[in-house]
Amino acid sequence: MFPQERPRRLRQSAGMRRLVRETRLDVERFIYPVFVRPGRGEQTAISAMPGIFQWSVDTLVNHCRSVYETGVHAFLLFGLPSHKDAVGSEAYDPEGIVQVALRALKEALPDAVLIADLCLCEYTDHGHCGILRGGTVDNDVTLDVLARAAVEQARAGATMVAPSDMMDGRVGAIRRALDENGFNHVPIMAYSAKYASGFYGPFREAADNAPAFGDRQTYQMDPGNRREALKEVLLDLAEGADIVMVKPALPYLDVLSDVRRSVEVPVAAYQVSGEFAMIEAAAQRGWLDRERVILETLISIRRAGADLIISYWAPEVSGWLGGLG
Ligand code: PBG
Repeated sequence: MFPQERPRRLRQSAGMRRLVRETRLDVERFIYPVFVRPGRGEQTAISAMPGIFQWSVDTLVNHCRSVYETGVHAFLLFGLPSHKDAVGSEAYDPEGIVQVALRALKEALPDAVLIADLCLCEYTDHGHCGILRGGTVDNDVTLDVLARAAVEQARAGATMVAPSDMMDGRVGAIRRALDENGFNHVPIMAYSAKYASGFYGPFREAADNAPAFGDRQTYQMDPGNRREALKEVLLDLAEGADIVMVKPALPYLDVLSDVRRSVEVPVAAYQVSGEFAMIEAAAQRGWLDRERVILETLISIRRAGADLIISYWAPEVSGWLGGLG
């Protein structure tokens, strides 16, 4: 019997393939992460992240302006403070690095979506994502500090705050604090299913947030757990999250797909520093076709269910896609 079905019929030409393609990438769903540090005129390279830099506020504004022109209009801000201490006080200091950067970006790009990563790990001298009590991260004490930092970020012009610390109850605490301080219009994008991942390796240098002892396995999720991701997502939604996130992206596409099917809110995926670095490293050696695999990973993330994609390649990919549609 000759086959009745011949799927190859629809693969014959680029035009036909484009016509029946189920998933496409578009620039509007990209979020570009940026790192801001003290000083002026700074552009500091990050060794494991070629093409990504730590910027001072002045150079960051110029960089974001040119990225904005490529069609990428959403930015996720990470700060490298001038001062670290046990409670991460620069995270909630109105003159802290991210708050200063937010005010400058808000003025330069009033229509940009400025998302403030909300976590203490860059600001604490021990590098953990919360306040330490008796050698461990104390969940409930940390909530007060996160809530305070969220309010300062909103005051400085953050369009949205993005808690990435994985403390229990933080979305509810942040929501309450924002509402009580006149920021009930500021959404929360929760890093809901954030795994304790080796793929954050290069980020440790980029954001100078390596823990001084131990690791983050007592608060970030175990890579073996799939159902637990839904539990985390549903808890965050019950506490008031507007957008939920899965992180990292490529090693957790099953989780992304589960989450997409289970909730109605927008779902974000974070293509993290290690996902970026491994492709850059292989491409540098000529082992992979860089552009092709970057686009393939992004389409996979989109196909698995991401509405928003956080990627260090966002500006470059926007160029490949022809900018705004
Ligand atoms: C924590 C945070 C991390 C990343 C984003 N927010 C690192 C961590 O949890 O160790 C990782 C992002 C990346 O690797 O690109 N504030």
